[in-house]
Amino acid sequence: MKNYKLIIILILSVLFIFSCKKDNEEQMQIDNSYVPTPLAIRVPAGWPQPVIPAWNETTLEGVRLGRMLFYDPILSSNGLSCSSCHPQNQAFAVPFRVNSAGDTVSIPPLVNLAWNPDFEWLGQEPILEHVPLADFGPEFFNTNMDTLVKRIKAHQKYPQYFREAFNINDVSTLSDDELQRNIANAISQFIRTIISDGSKFDKVSRHETAFTAEEMDGASIFYTERGDCFHCHGTPLFTNNTFNNTGLDSVLTGQNLGRYLYTGITTDKGKFSAPSLRNIELTAPYMHDSRFQTLEEVVEFYNSGVHWNSPNIDPIMTKPFKEYGLLLSAVEKADLVAFLKTLTDTTLLSNPAISNPH
Ligand code: HEC
Ligand code: HEC
Repeated sequence: MKNYKLIIILILSVLFIFSCKKDNEEQMQIDNSYVPTPLAIRVPAGWPQPVIPAWNETTLEGVRLGRMLFYDPILSSNGLSCSSCHPQNQAFAVPFRVNSAGDTVSIPPLVNLAWNPDFEWLGQEPILEHVPLADFGPEFFNTNMDTLVKRIKAHQKYPQYFREAFNINDVSTLSDDELQRNIANAISQFIRTIISDGSKFDKVSRHETAFTAEEMDGASIFYTERGDCFHCHGTPLFTNNTFNNTGLDSVLTGQNLGRYLYTGITTDKGKFSAPSLRNIELTAPYMHDSRFQTLEEVVEFYNSGVHWNSPNIDPIMTKPFKEYGLLLSAVEKADLVAFLKTLTDTTLLSNPAISNPH
């Protein structure tokens, strides 16, 4: 009888030890597992589906890592981060930078880029993930890769974040190239989650509010042959992602040669990627070279400043009856500006989901 009890106790304790061991193993399994959580990019009603590369699908863990890196000067040797030139409180764009050739280049806002088929003013980069790679170079971050690896390894959160996003246990096992690519992939995942659809224009589209009489008049200029703006800045993204020469200059030299500098095709001279007009009120000055300070100046350009003799000028700009410009009255010009300002989305500027997490 005594023996019998002893045997039961023995069996029970063996079972107990075994179950503890199993628990521990399971625990360890979870810690080391690589199961990133898929994240669907939110698509506002009526917008097209964004195209996301199968080799860098969006995950919660990837976006979390990308968001940290986007705001972190850890990537540079000079204190710069992506957010230095693309800060949230300025619609992810500061006015401009002067490049090594001495040209003033307007900095584009990083908003709704999940829907962009190509990037930069000349559209020279079709893959979002490739854009940040250039930032490691001497002109931008001037990154020392050995220092970067040390900083990441010593960081409280990055080792865990890299493991959970990309199954990378130790960044020092990667080549410089591989590490840069993983960083660019994470940041691109984050950038795709920067979505702006909270403007007055969007609220009017959702029947939540109404335009004023001035905004309504501006909209009718924008969307009809009066202004013809919609041809290149169409709804809902306010860009049709075309390349056009709008006739800013009659003689094209230097950076004003536009897309030609990338393609070498003569008919691309003077053409630039048509930018989105969302949040345009917040991103002065305007055009690729920041030549116009205000929206009033831009509207005056379209109204009376188009150079008809510019090579490859877009046929929309030189339609019959436009010989003397758009002939907008002072009131109509103000109304067009009022409409453009309905594209301002102030919720973007403080949305906590895309803010600095540090
Ligand atoms: C010193 C300022 C500066 C910094 C820092 C910077 N950028 Fe930019 N960014 C620019 C400029 C200028 C352009 C436009 C270049 C052109 O078109 O020639 C640009 C363009 C872009 C574009 C293309 C946008 C579009 O609509 O075509 C993306 C994407 C981008 N940057 C992402 C980043 C990321 C990610 C980082 C950090 C890794 C970063 N940038 C850091 C100045 C900067
Ligand atoms: C034929 C196509 C086309 C038409 C029509 C057109 N645009 Fe543009 N728009 C462009 C292109 C291309 C650019 C960039 C030009 C550059 O930087 O060299 C641009 C730039 C702008 C900018 C400055 C954007 C920025 O981020 O700097 C504003 C504002 C603007 N357009 C408003 C309008 C308005 C208002 C109308 C109608 C009166 C209009 N556009 C008609 C193609 C067009």
